[in-house]
Amino acid sequence: MSRKKVGILISGRGSNMSALIAAAKEPDYPAEIIGVLSNKAAAQGLITAATEGIATASLAQSKFPSRDMFEDTMTQVLESWEVDIVCLAGFMRILGDDFVNRWAGRMINIHPSLLPAYKGLDTHARALADGVTEHGCTVHYVTPGLDEGEPILQAKVPVLPGDTPETLAARVLVEEHHIYPEALRILAAALP
Ligand code: GAR
Repeated sequence: MSRKKVGILISGRGSNMSALIAAAKEPDYPAEIIGVLSNKAAAQGLITAATEGIATASLAQSKFPSRDMFEDTMTQVLESWEVDIVCLAGFMRILGDDFVNRWAGRMINIHPSLLPAYKGLDTHARALADGVTEHGCTVHYVTPGLDEGEPILQAKVPVLPGDTPETLAARVLVEEHHIYPEALRILAAALP
């Protein structure tokens, strides 16, 4: 079995990244994590990845004259790692069309809502404000429209009395860590 090479983009904690790294240690997993790229030098996930012996890089968009040049440099880093698949795991920047199209069909994202509900930020607080009884998370393909790409997997959780955005986020995060490795397995196994 030839395993697909994966680059992960993060901005912070990196718990979904850790779930992907853990899954890729399974002998029959069809993907391997080659490198982790952050747009924040202080991202905790960079330390976790380096501890796992995975290549890391950080690029601050503010150091580049334009978003295009920043994203071209991200592509150069990912290409230097020869990645087949890009996983966004808490990468908190909106990506430009050129970058998105460069990785079309091979870039996926984890989003903390049951898309198409609650695209964008503050998903848990917005779900609570609406009084929904069910919430969850989605792994989807990344397309130029924000959080609009085709879903690969979703997981639902109940909203419980007394939930705060934090308690709800923690319940959803458990499910994120289940469906992200599973969605990457599906994509990696499906690619030629
Ligand atoms: C996760 O909950 C992820 O779904 C969310 O950020 C968190 C990152 O946590 N992503 C988004 O909101 C993307 N718009 P992590 O760094 O521990 O994986």
